[in-house]
Amino acid sequence: MLILGIDTSCDDTAAAVVEDGRRIISNVVSNQDDIHEKYGGIVPELASRRHIELIWPVVNEAIKRAEVNFRDISAIAVTSGPGLIGSLLVGVCFAKSLSLVNSTPMVAVNHLEGHIHSIFLEANPLFPFVALVVSGGHTSLYRVDDFGLYTELGRTRDDAAGEAYDKVAKLLGFSYPGGPIIDAISAKGDPHSIAFPKANLKGSLDFSFSGLKTSVLNYVKKHPESKKEDIAASFQSAVVGALIDKIVAAVGAEGINRVVLSGGVSANSALRSSMKEKAMSEGIELFLPSLNLCTDNAAMIASAGYYYFKKGELADFTLNPKAYLPIGVKS
Ligand code: KG4
Ligand code: ZN
Repeated sequence: MLILGIDTSCDDTAAAVVEDGRRIISNVVSNQDDIHEKYGGIVPELASRRHIELIWPVVNEAIKRAEVNFRDISAIAVTSGPGLIGSLLVGVCFAKSLSLVNSTPMVAVNHLEGHIHSIFLEANPLFPFVALVVSGGHTSLYRVDDFGLYTELGRTRDDAAGEAYDKVAKLLGFSYPGGPIIDAISAKGDPHSIAFPKANLKGSLDFSFSGLKTSVLNYVKKHPESKKEDIAASFQSAVVGALIDKIVAAVGAEGINRVVLSGGVSANSALRSSMKEKAMSEGIELFLPSLNLCTDNAAMIASAGYYYFKKGELADFTLNPKAYLPIGVKS
């Protein structure tokens, strides 16, 4: 059964064709980095305008690369939130039109649930597992007991980890998205050169990254001569340390030794290697999506949509996207 996935939640226009929720037939992502990089962050109005220009070519390309026709598609799965409302509206309105024109059923998918589903495109973790969704908009830990069955264990109380990466990159003079740049230059720096604070929030599985970001800002002001590579590596070490501490705490609290990472920041090389080491020493079974499935894509949306379609949970033309949507809620 073929599902066409569509995601326009943020600044990537994405479409994919996935078979039976597991096998990627085509996966097309068009990013808008050229538009946003000079602003050091996403400009929502520009993002939605660009989605309007790209949505048809990107969906067409996904269908073309899959070597199928629209009539071969059993359902359209579209991200209904959370995300930038103007961006989400483009994908949802496009999916509704496609659904109407081709009489194809439509399914709404929560973007956070989509991120967790990335792993099912490459692996088959048994339930239950602990999942970290760590991206530009979110940093949350969940207990996942089944498809669609999530319990939030912790979340960021302020900035998302990806947001902190992007802001620190901006204050170091790098362009958007800053995460991959900080990742790359950190390899040339000393992660122990500066002791940035790691918010601990004892007794809670919540995160906090805004204090760390402010410490980096203050440090840069006080030490303008300091090597950017050392600042980046020390900042990264604090973020990765905080993420891993809470993952290990969640594993202990839930008595579950299976962990799935997802979201753009899970493409980070330091997080991946440190988490692999930790998993080895703690006896955790670790699942890491490939790099192109960590960041936003529509294959993950098609995968999650497949399970809702099988359950008969269809969306109708009253579907309205929402900027804020907790996991497990689709509209
Ligand atoms: O999941 P995603 O593509 O979009 C959202 O749903 O937010 O995540 C984008 C975020 C950005 O903040 C970007 O800087 C960060 O993921 N990111 C990284 C890396 N690659 C992307 N952060 C750290 N290291 C990376 N290699
Ligand atoms: Zn995302």
